[in-house]
Amino acid sequence: MAIEAENPVTREEVRRRTMSGTRPLGKSTLALAIAVPLILGLIGGGVWGYMVHAPTNAAVVTGQPVSFALKAASSGMSMYFVGIGGSIDGQQNPTLSVNQGDIVTITVQNADTTTHNVYVDGYDVQSPNAAPGASTSLHFTASNQGTYAYYCAVPGHRSMGMEGKIVVGAGQSGPTTLPPPGPEKLPLDTPFIGRDPNDVPPPTNRTTSATVHVWLDAQVVNAEVEDRTSFQYWTYNGTVPGPMFRVRVNDTVVVHFHNSDPAMAHSVDFHAATGPGGGMAASMSNPGEWGNFSFKALIPGLFVYHCGTPNVPTHVSMGMYGMILVEPEQGLPYFDNQGKPIKEFYVVQGELYTKWAAGTKGNQLFDGTRLLDENPTYVVFNGRWQALTGNHSLLAKVNDTVRIYFGVGGPNLISSFHIIGEIFDKVYFLGDLTDPPLSGIQTVPVNPGSGTIVELTVQVPANYVLVDHSLTRALDKGALGLLNVTGPSDPVLFNPLP
Ligand code: CU
Ligand code: CU
Repeated sequence: MAIEAENPVTREEVRRRTMSGTRPLGKSTLALAIAVPLILGLIGGGVWGYMVHAPTNAAVVTGQPVSFALKAASSGMSMYFVGIGGSIDGQQNPTLSVNQGDIVTITVQNADTTTHNVYVDGYDVQSPNAAPGASTSLHFTASNQGTYAYYCAVPGHRSMGMEGKIVVGAGQSGPTTLPPPGPEKLPLDTPFIGRDPNDVPPPTNRTTSATVHVWLDAQVVNAEVEDRTSFQYWTYNGTVPGPMFRVRVNDTVVVHFHNSDPAMAHSVDFHAATGPGGGMAASMSNPGEWGNFSFKALIPGLFVYHCGTPNVPTHVSMGMYGMILVEPEQGLPYFDNQGKPIKEFYVVQGELYTKWAAGTKGNQLFDGTRLLDENPTYVVFNGRWQALTGNHSLLAKVNDTVRIYFGVGGPNLISSFHIIGEIFDKVYFLGDLTDPPLSGIQTVPVNPGSGTIVELTVQVPANYVLVDHSLTRALDKGALGLLNVTGPSDPVLFNPLP
C-alpha cells in the first residue's frame, strides 16, 4: 500500500515559480550589481546606504576613495574572510582601517561553495549576494568615527566566523545606535506565512503497515512577521511550521526532500527516524538538488522534524521545522464520547531573532547576536506575531473535544503551554503515545525539539487564549492565539455575578 502526503513537488514547483522571492529578486540583485558602480561613478558615495548620522567632530575628513578586497572561504565548520593585497594580504578577517570621510569600497570574491555577501554594522550597508565564484561589492562614506563590525549577513555565517572590524578614524567615538530599517519589502510572496492550524491530516485508519511518501521543499519566503513588517523566512513548503504528517507505527516513510532555495544548502532531520542524523546527511541538498531517504517509524509519538544544515539553530529559527505524528497500532480516538469527531489543530512554537525590536515597521533582518544570546525578538505560534488570532483563530463549539498537536521548533526556549480559562483533560506528555496520558493539567512544559498532544472538552463559550505562560513571550513577543468557542452558556459552570 502506498500513500502520498503533502504537495507532490510538481505543484510546489508551479507555486514556487510564481513567487517573487526567487524570480524578481534575482533580476533586481543583478540590476543592483550593475547600477551601483554606475551611480557611484556619477554622484559619489555619500548617498549610498542609510547615512543617518552627521559627522561627529572635526577630525581629519578626507573624502578619499579607499578599497579593500576580501576572499570568502571556509574550512570544516568555519567560514571567514581573507584579505587580498596590501597590508591585509593573507590575513583572516583582517581589521580594515580608514579615515573619517573616506569613501569605502569592500569587494568580496567568493571562493567558497555557498553564497556570501558583506555587511557593515552601524552604517547598515550590504552588498548583493555573490554566488560561488562571483564577486560583490558595497560602498559607503565613513562619516562617523568608531569601530564597526563587518560580516557576512547570510543568516548563520557570522556565527560561523565571517566577521571582522572596520576602524574609522581613531576608532574611539562614534554612535552605535541602530539605523532605521529599510522599507517593508514588497511584494510579499504570501499574504500569511503561518500554517493553517486546521491543516491536520486525517487519521491513517489502517490496521496494516504501509509505505508513506512525504514531500518537503525548502523555500525562501518573504512574508509579514507582523503588520507592515516583512521578513525573509526559510520554510518547508512555504509555511511556518512546515506540513504536519501522519503515519502509523511500523510504516516506512519515504522522504522526498528538494531544495528550492537559490542560495544555500538545506536538509531535514526527522526525530521519528532511527538512523544517522535522522536523515540530515542523506537529505543535505545544494540549491536545486534532491536528497531522499526512507526510515521505518518504529516508535509511536508526536515528533519534530527540522533542518540540520549548519548553522543549525539559525536554520531552525528562520522557520525550518514541523511535526510528524506516528500513531500507535490502534490509532488515536477520533470520536468523542458523544460520537462527534474530535476537533484537531496543529500549533508549533518558534523564535525569530531580528535586528530591530518587535513593533518596528519595515523590513526586519536576521540578527545572529540575539540568536547567540538566546534572546528572540519574537516568540510565535505558527510563524507570525499572534498568527492564530482573528481569521486564523481555532474554532470550536460548546461540548466539542479539542485536540491540539503542539510542538516546539525553537530552537532554544522551553514553552510553558497554557490555555487561559481552560484545563487540559488529557496531556500526552513529551508526545509519548506508549503510556497513558496525564490528566487535569493547567500548563505543560514542552521543550525544544519535542511535542505534546493536549485534549480538552470546552463547556463554556469564550475566547480562550493560547499562550506560552512565560508571559512576556505571549504579550510582548507574539506567542498568543485564540480558541474561539461558541454556543449556549451554562451559569452553573461559570457565572459573572452582578
Ligand atoms: Cu556567508
Ligand atoms: Cu536549512
